[in-house]
Amino acid sequence: MAWKTLDDMDLKGKRVLVRVDINVPMENGVVTDMTRIERIADTVYDIQDAGGKVILMAHYGRPKGKVVESMSLIHIAPAVADELGVPVTFADSDYRDAVKEMQGDEVLLLENLRFNPGEEANDPAFAKRLASLCDIYVNDAFSAAHRAHASTAAIAKLRPSCAGRLMAEELGALEAALGSPKRPVVAVVGGAKVSTKLDLLGNLVGKVDHLIIGGGMANTFLAAQGINVGKSLCEHDLADTAREILEKAKIVGCEIILPRDIVVARDFKADADNETVAPEACPADAMILDAGPATVAYIEEVLTNAKTLVWNGPLGAFEIAPFDAATNAAAQAAAKLTKAGKLISVAGGGDTVAALNQADAAKDFTYISTAGGAFLEWMEGKELPGVAALNG
Ligand code: 3PG
Repeated sequence: MAWKTLDDMDLKGKRVLVRVDINVPMENGVVTDMTRIERIADTVYDIQDAGGKVILMAHYGRPKGKVVESMSLIHIAPAVADELGVPVTFADSDYRDAVKEMQGDEVLLLENLRFNPGEEANDPAFAKRLASLCDIYVNDAFSAAHRAHASTAAIAKLRPSCAGRLMAEELGALEAALGSPKRPVVAVVGGAKVSTKLDLLGNLVGKVDHLIIGGGMANTFLAAQGINVGKSLCEHDLADTAREILEKAKIVGCEIILPRDIVVARDFKADADNETVAPEACPADAMILDAGPATVAYIEEVLTNAKTLVWNGPLGAFEIAPFDAATNAAAQAAAKLTKAGKLISVAGGGDTVAALNQADAAKDFTYISTAGGAFLEWMEGKELPGVAALNG
């Protein structure tokens, strides 16, 4: 890989501007998931230990180039200070003065970058203004690397730049999962809609040995094979696309695994009356809400023989019990194999982490990405502008 890491930089006495992603969920002014903040800690400490001064810059929400008070990073600053155990000073303007005044192990946090229209426009002038604050630029925001913004793309060419610890860790884990993986490789792709994951499925078919499709997406594939899926979530207009993916898989020798049995219910609610039937036996007035035990047993068999797993999306309606059963069982099987040293398991994107946490499986996975959209774009095989900008 062409990008540098912190180990390649002389940080002593330098002002180091670090792009982080602290776009964390908040409820009533309280951060409800600290993961993204926790995971920038190594970068901050390593820069400070090497004698550098840390200036953090990040976005929050989508204020679209305007100042939106509720999206100010001033609300996140206390959580960053608590988590890192260092004083965090917040700067909403006059960045240059704030940088000059930095003392000791103080960390400076700049205001939400997206308050400035130059950020999302990848504006060279805005990038230049940011670059003028530092000697070295570090990108530690893998989860924002799918955006070509001033703080992730344009700035990288203006100063000596490198990947932070989290960025390097994410890229290493992803390389192990799909770049040069140990085979056989299994991918689990779930979620509601095929339409949002077409590129991803197309890319994976050419890369993995087994592709397990779950959730609402599986219904589209079942329907494309002439199965009546009743009232299930299904994108009938994508039948041709689904058939093309099945055909491509056959040609390249990728096994596509669809539900072999299905759990159906008449109501989309927790504890709704349900039954497990063959896919061909979905009642006309029912919807498919999960994969059944026969499917889970086969997934477990495939995982047992696999060396690498990459997981994105739940297998069923995991938010409502008991339709979380297949997701939980498959996740627990993957966690157990990983713990036993038999499987490399990498997961990320959207609902995935919530689903794996609910299954109490995330802690045993080899790597859980902090990224949502960036993880998906990486699974699609796309070049991430924030990563590309570091190469050079
Ligand atoms: C995320 O939460 O996935 C990242 O912070 C990127 O946010 P965005 O989708 O608003 O660019």
